Amino acid sequence: MIFKNAMMEKVGIFFSFSSNKTARIGEKIIDAFGSESIEKVNAESVTVKEFLKFKNYIVGVPTWFDGELPLYWDEFVPAIKDMDLSGRKFAIYGLGDQKGYPENFNDGVGLFAELVTDQGADIVGFTTSKGYEFEGSLAAKDGMFCGLCLDQENQSKLSEKRIADWVEQIKKEFS
Ligand SMILES: Cc1cc2nc3c(=O)[nH]c(=O)nc-3n(C[C@H](O)[C@H](O)[C@H](O)COP(=O)(O)O)c2cc1C
Repeated sequence: MIFKNAMMEKVGIFFSFSSNKTARIGEKIIDAFGSESIEKVNAESVTVKEFLKFKNYIVGVPTWFDGELPLYWDEFVPAIKDMDLSGRKFAIYGLGDQKGYPENFNDGVGLFAELVTDQGADIVGFTTSKGYEFEGSLAAKDGMFCGLCLDQENQSKLSEKRIADWVEQIKKEFS
């Protein structure tokens, strides 16, 4: 078994190490996933070489500025637009506030999904949008979110189970 683990490719998890809630959720995802099979990369300082090291990705994307990506991801967008991401799988988790920003709830998840699928990547980790109350979200289509949408402002008690279920789901979808 040790040999098998050593041969397994690590999943790359990307989030801002100096973010607040996104980093805390990132650590919870690492714990649930098993730290031995995941490598943590700081989204604030990631290089193209580091970004392209993986086949399977978990990306932390809080929504900021009324429906926008946070600055550190926004600055990396031109680099991603130059990449060929075909054959790679992305699972995106987002942080948002459905009461404060009901028209742009977790838009960042949708923006990031579109960004990487335009470069040939596949999205995994779709979840139901049942159980949330919002008016609009670029992450939502036909009753599903294209990632895990968390709301620590209004539904923090639901996050633990949402994370645990999602990690089990993406483990299967990555393989
Ligand atoms: C100025 C500002 C703008 C925000 N805009 C949105 C938004 O458009 N949509 C949304 O769902 N959440 C929005 N939020 C809520 C954040 O995404 C949420 O607080 C998140 O947990 C922040 O994560 P972080 O602390 O890791 O950056 C906004 C928060 C602030 C302070």
